[in-house]
Amino acid sequence: MILALFFMANFLFFYTMDICFATNNENKLKEVQWLLGEDYRVVSLKEVGCMEELPETQKTLEGNSLQKAEYVYQKYNIPCFADDTGLEVVALDGKPGVYSARFAGEPPDNEANMALLLKMLKGEKNRNAQFRTVITFLENGRRRQFEGFVKGTILEQKQGDEGFGYDPVFKPSGHSKSFAQMSLQEKNEISHRAIAIRKFVEYLRKHQVK
Ligand code: IMP
Repeated sequence: MILALFFMANFLFFYTMDICFATNNENKLKEVQWLLGEDYRVVSLKEVGCMEELPETQKTLEGNSLQKAEYVYQKYNIPCFADDTGLEVVALDGKPGVYSARFAGEPPDNEANMALLLKMLKGEKNRNAQFRTVITFLENGRRRQFEGFVKGTILEQKQGDEGFGYDPVFKPSGHSKSFAQMSLQEKNEISHRAIAIRKFVEYLRKHQVK
């Protein structure tokens, strides 16, 4: 009897659920595991045996994150989420948006992307932009999407060398530094991705997804 109670308590209090994050980016995996805490174990694509490139052929962030999550959910039968992020520049009608990684062509090149962006915005007064992330979570026949965005401006030239992607040319509103001049912790407090992830974590806790 005592043994049975011990196992039940163990199950109720220490049960951890595996959720696959459909990404190969180690930094993102760590960041999400940290935010999710101990109730959930973030499993990488490698761990579920997915070595192939995920399809990402949609025209929106919503479509791409759903496509990636669906691929893993259907093929590997595990609760799964995927993210997709884009930089949306007002003066460019929301471009590069879903095409942010390959804005300057193949292969993806952060330096070339920033150079093209600065060239296209040369002389432009409206430098407003936002980073936007969409996360799609699939589990037990349910589908949920979570959005996070951070508004800011595109600088005239690169500043700082932390971070990745367009960080050196993006200055979040209300801050005097570019994303690339912030520590990872500072950026994580306000970033588009962290906001979307926090909404996702809140959902998991509120709905006790286990
Ligand atoms: P992904 O969907 O997270 O792979 O992001 C697509 C592209 O958006 C990346 O290749 C980067 O160019 C850009 N990007 C995404 N997140 C960030 C960020 O936090 N800072 C700067 N650039 C980013």
